[in-house]
Amino acid sequence: MKGIKLKLLIYTSLLMLLLLIFNILIQSNILNRYYSKTEKDKLISYAQIIEKNISNPNELTLQLQRISSTLNAKISIYDENGNLITQEYSHMMGMTGKILNIEKSYLNTVVSGQIVYRTDEVMLKQSKIISLGYPAKFNNTTIAIFIHIPAIEIKNTVSNLSKQFTYLLFVAIVISILGAFFISNRFTKPILEINNAAKKISNGNYDVRLTITTNDEIEELSNTINLMAENLSKTEKLRRDFIANVTHEFRTPLGIIKGYAEALYDDIVPIDERKEYIEDIIEEVERLNRLVNENLELSKIESGNIDLKFERLNLYDLLKDIVDKIKILKGNRDIRLLGEDIFINGDREYLERAILNILSNSIKHTKEDGSIEIILSNVNEPTINIKDDGEGIEEKHLPYIFERFYRVKEKGVGGLGLSIAKEIIKLHNGEINVTSKVGEGTIFIIKFKN
Ligand SMILES: Nc1ncnc2c1ncn2[C@@H]1O[C@H](COP(=O)(O)OP(=O)(O)OP(=O)(O)O)[C@@H](O)[C@H]1O
Ligand SMILES: [Mg+2]
Repeated sequence: MKGIKLKLLIYTSLLMLLLLIFNILIQSNILNRYYSKTEKDKLISYAQIIEKNISNPNELTLQLQRISSTLNAKISIYDENGNLITQEYSHMMGMTGKILNIEKSYLNTVVSGQIVYRTDEVMLKQSKIISLGYPAKFNNTTIAIFIHIPAIEIKNTVSNLSKQFTYLLFVAIVISILGAFFISNRFTKPILEINNAAKKISNGNYDVRLTITTNDEIEELSNTINLMAENLSKTEKLRRDFIANVTHEFRTPLGIIKGYAEALYDDIVPIDERKEYIEDIIEEVERLNRLVNENLELSKIESGNIDLKFERLNLYDLLKDIVDKIKILKGNRDIRLLGEDIFINGDREYLERAILNILSNSIKHTKEDGSIEIILSNVNEPTINIKDDGEGIEEKHLPYIFERFYRVKEKGVGGLGLSIAKEIIKLHNGEINVTSKVGEGTIFIIKFKN
C-alpha cells in the first residue's frame, strides 16, 4: 500500500481514534459525576427516612440498623449543640467506623441548615470516606444526621465500567482501523482506475473507457476522461485520414508528372506532342499547388489561425458582387438573386470565398442551360439558399460532402471547396446544410445565428 491510500488510511484511523478517546474521556467523566450525584441523592433519601422516624426511638433504632447495614455505613446524629444523640455503624467498617469523628466546623455547617456531601481521606490517607451531613428538624431545633460510607463502593462501580470501556476502546480501535481501510480503499479505487486509464491514453490507447458510478466529482472526472479519450481518438482518426487522403491525392498527379517528364527526358515523345506533355505537366503542378495552398488554408481556418476582419456587411450587396464576378464562369446558365438588404457582421473576403465555392459547384453540376437561384431571407435569422436544378447528389454521399477531399465522382485533385466553405461559415457563427435529389437539383442553406 502506498501514496494516497496509505495517507487516507492513516488520517481516517487517527481521526477515528481521536474521536473515540475524546468520547471515552467525556463518558468516564460524566459517569463519575453521575455516580456521585446518584450517591448523594441516595444518601439524602436515607437521611430523610431517619428524619421521619426521629421522634420514634424504637423505629429509629431499627431504621438506623437497617440503613447502616445496607449501606455498610456509619450513621451518627448530633443535637444542635453538638452533642452526640445516637450512632450506629456497620461492623464491616471496622476500625474506620470507630475512629470517625465529626469536626466542629462540619457539625456547625450542617446544624446551620446546609446539606454537605464530601469525600474525606482517613486512616493516614489509606482509604476514602464519603459523607453526607443532613440538617433535620426535631422539636423546633435543627439536628445533624451524618451518614458515612466507604468510597470504595462507588470507585468499584466506576472502575468496573472503566475497564469495560477500555475493552470497548480496543474493539473500537480495531473496528476503526478496519473501517479506515475500507474507506481508503473505496475512495482510492476509482482514483487508481482513472490514473491507469490516463496512463493508457497517454500511451496512445484511446479505446479505454471508465465506468465509475460514484455519483460525485470522481464520476465527473471519469466522464471527462472518457470524453477526452473519445475526442483524442476522433482527432487521431482525422489525422490518419488526413495523411492517407493527402498521400492519395498527391500520388496520381505526381505519377503523371513523373511519367511525362521521364518520357520527355527519354525522347520517346514525338516532337509535335511535346508541348502538350509539358502543358499537362504544368497543369498537374498547378493543381497540386492549388491543393497544397487550399489544404494549408483549411488547416489555418480550422485551427482558428486566421485574422478575420469583421465589419457590418450588406449580404445582398455581397451576393450581387459574387454574381457579377462569376459571370465568366456561368456560361449560359441563368443565375438569379432574390431578396433584400440584410446586414450581418462578417469578413467580406472570407464570406465571398465560401459562397463562391458553393456557387462554382452549382455551376459545375448544372447543365449549360440550367438555372441557379440565390435567395436571401431573414425569417428567423439571415439565411442564404443556393439552389440549382442540376444533377443532384445521391443521399448516401450527403453526409460526407463537407469532408476534406471528399468528392462524389470527380477525378484528379480537389474536394476542399465545401470543407473550406463550412469552416468559414462556422467562424461566422453560422451553419450550412444541404438537401438534394438526384436529377432534380441541390439546395445549400446557410443560416447565420445572430
Ligand atoms: N451543387 C452540387 N450539385 C451536385 N454535386 C455537388 C454540388 N456541390 C457539391 N457537390 C458534390 O460534392 C463534392 C464535394 O464538393 P467540394 O466543393 O468540396 O469539392 P470539389 O468541388 O470536387 O473540389 P474543389 O471544390 O476543391 O475544387 C463534389 O465533388 C460534388 O460531387
Ligand atoms: Mg467545389
